[in-house]
Amino acid sequence: MIKIKEIKVKNMNVQKFISDKVWDIQKAVGAGLAINALSGGVDSSVVTALGHKALGRRLKTYFINNGIMREGEPAKVAATFKKLGIQVEVLDSSNAFFAALKGITDPEEKREAITQTFYKNVFGKLVVKSKAKYLLQGTILTDVDETVAGIKRQHNVFEQLGIDPQEAFGYKILEPLIELRKDGVRKVGRGLGLPESIFNRIPFPGPALAARVIGEVTPAKIALVRKATAITESALKGTKAFQYMAILHEDRVTGIRNNKRVFGNQIEIRCWNSLDARVAQPTRISFDILESIAAKITKEMPEVVSVTYNITSKPTSTIEAV
Ligand code: XMP
Repeated sequence: MIKIKEIKVKNMNVQKFISDKVWDIQKAVGAGLAINALSGGVDSSVVTALGHKALGRRLKTYFINNGIMREGEPAKVAATFKKLGIQVEVLDSSNAFFAALKGITDPEEKREAITQTFYKNVFGKLVVKSKAKYLLQGTILTDVDETVAGIKRQHNVFEQLGIDPQEAFGYKILEPLIELRKDGVRKVGRGLGLPESIFNRIPFPGPALAARVIGEVTPAKIALVRKATAITESALKGTKAFQYMAILHEDRVTGIRNNKRVFGNQIEIRCWNSLDARVAQPTRISFDILESIAAKITKEMPEVVSVTYNITSKPTSTIEAV
C-alpha cells in the first residue's frame, strides 16, 4: 500500500500547490481527454476548477443527478459553474439509482449499491463513451484514512484497498487533492477563485440523502428527507456549526392531526460542532431555533408528527445516520 504524505495547511503554499497540480494533470493527460463528475461538494468542485485550469475544454464535467440530492441542487451547481465559465452537463440517472436501492435496508449495502451504480452503470459507461482515459476525482486524505481504518467505506477510494481502477472500470484515476484534508481543499478553492458559497459549504456525504434515510431508500422517502433538509439548512445556516442535517426515521410514531390520532413519520435533527469530522459534539442550539424548526417541519410536512434533536457525541454516534 502506498503511503500518502500529508500536506498540512500551515506548510502549504497555495499558488505553488495549484501550479504543481495543474502541471501534473497536464503531464498525465497529455493531448488526451479527461472526465470528472461534479457533485457540488467542496472536493469535487475544487477538482473541477483545477482540472479546467489544466485542461480547459479537454476536461468534460458531468453532474450526475442520482435522484438523492438536495432540493434544486443540480441546477444550482450547474449555474454556479457556468458563471465561472465552466460548462457542466447535467444527466438525470435517478431511475438507475432508485432501482439499485430497491429493497436494500442494510447501511453498508446501500452505500455499496450507490457506489456500484455510479462507477459501473452510470459514470463508468459515460467514461467509456467519452473515450477519456483519465478520471479526475476529489479524494482527500481523510477519505483514505477512514476507508483503510475500516471506519467507513468511502465511495471514492479504490487503490488503497487494492482495487485497480484500470482493471475494474477501464480508466485511470487522478486524485490531485489526495495529500490534503478539508481545510487545505478549502484554501485551494479560494486560491482558484471559487465563490465562498462553494469552498465553505458544509460537508455533504457521497451517498447524499440516502445517508439520512433509515431503512429502504425510496423516491417518496427521499422527497420527505429533502424537504426536511431544506427547512433545517435554512434555519441553521446562520450558526457556525460544522454540519447540520435532517434524518428520516424508519419507525413511525403516533401523533395528532386534526384532532385525530395518526401514525406518522419522525424526523431527527442533528447539528454538530467539529473540526475535522473525526470526533464531533452536538451543538447547543437555542431551544427557540429548535422549536421553530419543529413547527415549520410539522406545518409544511403533513406526514411528520414528531421532530427530535440528537444529543449524542461522535463517538458513539456518527455524523450521518447511515
Ligand atoms: P460520519 O457519518 O462517518 O461522517 O461521522 C464523517 C463526515 O464524512 C461525511 N461523509 C461522507 N463524505 N462520502 C463523503 O464524501 C461518504 O461516503 C461520506 N459518508 C460520510 C459526513 O457528512 C461527515 O462530514
